Amino acid sequence: MPAFTATAPGKVILFGEHAVVYGEPAIAVPVQTVQSRVVISPVLSGRPGEIRIEAPDISLTTYLKDLETDHPLRVAVSVVVNSQGLEKIPACLIQITSTIPLAAGLGSSAAISTALIRALSGFLGKRMTDEEVSKAAFEVEKIHHSTPSGIDNSVVVFQQPVYYQKGNPLEFLPIKNPFSILIAGSGAPGDTRKAVTDVRDSWLANQDRYNKIFSEIGRVSRTARELIMGGNTQELGPLMDQNHHLLQELNVSTPKLDQLAEAARNAGALGAKLSGGGLGGCLIVLVSDEAKAVQARLLEEGAEDVFLTPVGRPLSPSQIE
Ligand code: PMV
Repeated sequence: MPAFTATAPGKVILFGEHAVVYGEPAIAVPVQTVQSRVVISPVLSGRPGEIRIEAPDISLTTYLKDLETDHPLRVAVSVVVNSQGLEKIPACLIQITSTIPLAAGLGSSAAISTALIRALSGFLGKRMTDEEVSKAAFEVEKIHHSTPSGIDNSVVVFQQPVYYQKGNPLEFLPIKNPFSILIAGSGAPGDTRKAVTDVRDSWLANQDRYNKIFSEIGRVSRTARELIMGGNTQELGPLMDQNHHLLQELNVSTPKLDQLAEAARNAGALGAKLSGGGLGGCLIVLVSDEAKAVQARLLEEGAEDVFLTPVGRPLSPSQIE
């Protein structure tokens, strides 16, 4: 039984987070600049079912059986093992590494689950289709917060820009005119679970107001889809600003994210918004020629890990910094 390796990219949500949980459309794109990687190797001296995990990026070295039963890694393994109708799997070592910052809104959990599910199904000799991997990764996403929309696993598994609306077939979004965004860490971890729970509590307390905000966000996502399909990507900036303001109304932004967004706009960016669950995490900034100046300003303002990533075209070596 040979070793098996799989990778999965990070992602950002360009438009529509939170509202997507309530049935509105959202747009997400893969971020190939960062990746999760899982290598599964047989341990010939081990007993069947003995699974060792090494994940240095999260300081985890353990046997799978010693993890809580609802630990995402344990659930990911069970989903694959059950889908293959197996009782036990051959002894193996699962090595997980990732360059995707954790709790940044960059999809690290979906990427790790995806790479693990892919590698394990390959290791066990029955590679799952992308649809099957996405479905399995969605099961794991439920642990991170109980009501995931499904957008994270969709974009990470299929590695293509997606226009996603719960209950509708997944739509891949052709990017007619590629563009670039800066991704900037706010210096504080995001908390998707808390953000999603807080938004739900607020929605339950005031459905009229929150439904209006969700449908405004949905309108922004629909307009963005038209602009992207028509090649008018430079016009996405004001829509990103609008989306950020609507996320502020949902109370999922932070003073730091707001400050960084303002600084980016003042430095000439075309638009900026938080991305992902919020309460920390990252900001995405639409840039053209002024990317370097905006990047410098964001770093001056205390942003962390500011990097440029292309949307709709492959990476060039100079873009990997
Ligand atoms: O924080 P992230 O990158 O997992 O994004 C969460 C996006 C939400 O819309 C807030 C939740 C969801 O499941 O769609």
